[in-house]
Amino acid sequence: MRAQATGRGDAKLIVFGEHSVVYGRPAVAAGLPSGAEATVRRSDDPGLTIDHPGGRLPVDDQLEVAADALLSVFDVDPDRLAIHVDIQIPVGVGLGSSAALATAISRALARLTGLRGREANATVEEAVAASETVFHGSPSGIDQCAAIDGRFFSFSPNDNQPVTRLDVPATTWVVARVGPPSSTAEMVASVRQLRARKRQFIESLFDDVADLTRRGIRALEAGDWKTVGEAMNRNQRLLKKLDVSTPDLDVACRAARDAGALGAKLTGAGGGGCIVALPPADDIDAVGRALQDHGEVFRFEL
Ligand code: PMV
Repeated sequence: MRAQATGRGDAKLIVFGEHSVVYGRPAVAAGLPSGAEATVRRSDDPGLTIDHPGGRLPVDDQLEVAADALLSVFDVDPDRLAIHVDIQIPVGVGLGSSAALATAISRALARLTGLRGREANATVEEAVAASETVFHGSPSGIDQCAAIDGRFFSFSPNDNQPVTRLDVPATTWVVARVGPPSSTAEMVASVRQLRARKRQFIESLFDDVADLTRRGIRALEAGDWKTVGEAMNRNQRLLKKLDVSTPDLDVACRAARDAGALGAKLTGAGGGGCIVALPPADDIDAVGRALQDHGEVFRFEL
């Protein structure tokens, strides 16, 4: 029996379709090259510690409930486990830190408990879903898919096979962390309330997002970056109507476009957090520079 094991999970970038994916519409995301690394150890000094770019993350009630939900899926004694996680991305800003964290811990636990192959994969999926339900309320599953398998994919939650791999030519994406962290569960709940009040309007807005997402998928695979950018801009306008954007996110999107970005939109649940911009191949730096005035800037070659 192993005494220690490690695991990792990817962070993610939603390029099209956040929120409408919760209501069955398609979305597109990619796993990021950074995420979370977990080490689990059988120990008489149990506990959960998490480091992230801002230092040690306090383990609040929500994290504890999520950790309990995750651990209950494995055949382990939580009182004899020391878990440490290094999260390499900012948390709570739309980059899928919770799914990356849960995936990293679950993979480490699967190894520690000797699970293999299909059984290991199924147990990791179940554990990540249990944890994500605590953070998201009613997760679509898109963050989980990105955290477990990375790469570019489209996600249609109601299909028998929700995930379709996309063959997207390599390009650089610029992400800026513009607003403070927000709660995904709260943002999802606010959209649910809006939909309850204006059902027809919101459903037809979701249909518009689905159309632009399908257009975006074809353009991504063709490397037609101009059309990808237009679809991102349209998606941002619709996210604004959903009331999940903020003045800071809008201003940063405009600054990215003024600096030459082909498209820019918030990414993730909104209410703060990050935007993603698609810079032109011949002037990536201009977009990165323009966004530096609005927040921390990351570049991802995907
Ligand atoms: O902000 P994040 O990384 O938690 O992304 C949430 C994406 C949503 O579509 C808003 C919710 C979901 O479960 O798909």
